[in-house]
Amino acid sequence: MSKPDATAPPAENAVSPAAAGAADAAHHRHIRSFVVRAGRMTQAQERAWRELWPRLGLDRSDQLFDFGALFGREAPVVFEVGFGNGEALVALAAAHPERNFVGLEVHPPGVGHLLLQCEAARLANVRIVCDDAVEVLQRRVADATLDELLLYFPDPWPKKRHHKRRIVQPAFVALVARKLKPGGVLRMATDWQPYAEHMLATAAQCAGLVNAAADGQYVERPASRPLTRFERRGQRLGHGVWDLAFIRR
Ligand SMILES: C[S@@+](CC[C@H](N)C(=O)[O-])C[C@H]1O[C@@H](n2cnc3c(N)ncnc32)[C@H](O)[C@@H]1O
Repeated sequence: MSKPDATAPPAENAVSPAAAGAADAAHHRHIRSFVVRAGRMTQAQERAWRELWPRLGLDRSDQLFDFGALFGREAPVVFEVGFGNGEALVALAAAHPERNFVGLEVHPPGVGHLLLQCEAARLANVRIVCDDAVEVLQRRVADATLDELLLYFPDPWPKKRHHKRRIVQPAFVALVARKLKPGGVLRMATDWQPYAEHMLATAAQCAGLVNAAADGQYVERPASRPLTRFERRGQRLGHGVWDLAFIRR
């Protein structure tokens, strides 16, 4: 597959027609958990895409990731799916220089924002993917290679007719379980109670995972989890927050 222009966000039209066709076909094999918003990029974010993406971004490809080669060292690998503007990821990566972090997000301005934060904090342990995390997990991540997968405040898709768009589905949870190392952890948080209940029921049914909560319910908010933009928004709206942790058997 030809590489997208490394200086431009990998929008569907930033890859060759053949590659875009293949990517599109792959995308349409499952219902997407997101809608690509037209969101405007600031000048600083455009610069980040031009200057920082070539160093920190992982271009589209069908090759499996070789995390040791990507980071230049062997270290535990943590994925954050749907990092938004990347605030939590930057805080985690700064607090854990001994871990390698890969952030996945489909919204190019959010990626630009994270690139800028990585530059400002001089982080060497973050790499970024701008693509559908479901596709990336399926095609680019070898089984039993992740130490943690973080899914913080995924879009709740509250309307019943949209529930099929929720990223947390039995097939997604089984996919994540396969990609985690034994003892690896899937951590989720949401401020939408019906989604929390759906996450709990879905993960509990996955044979490869066991709930870290002794009572089979939710876990305490981990002190290590930074506050995210969506969590702050939820707090302003008076929402509760539910944290979940499931361990790969
Ligand atoms: C509600 S926002 C939460 C963002 C961030 N985690 C936070 O707490 O502030 C959900 C994010 O997930 C991203 N997203 C949804 N589905 C995705 C997917 N399949 N792959 C990558 N990102 C996805 C969306 O673009 C959006 O930025």
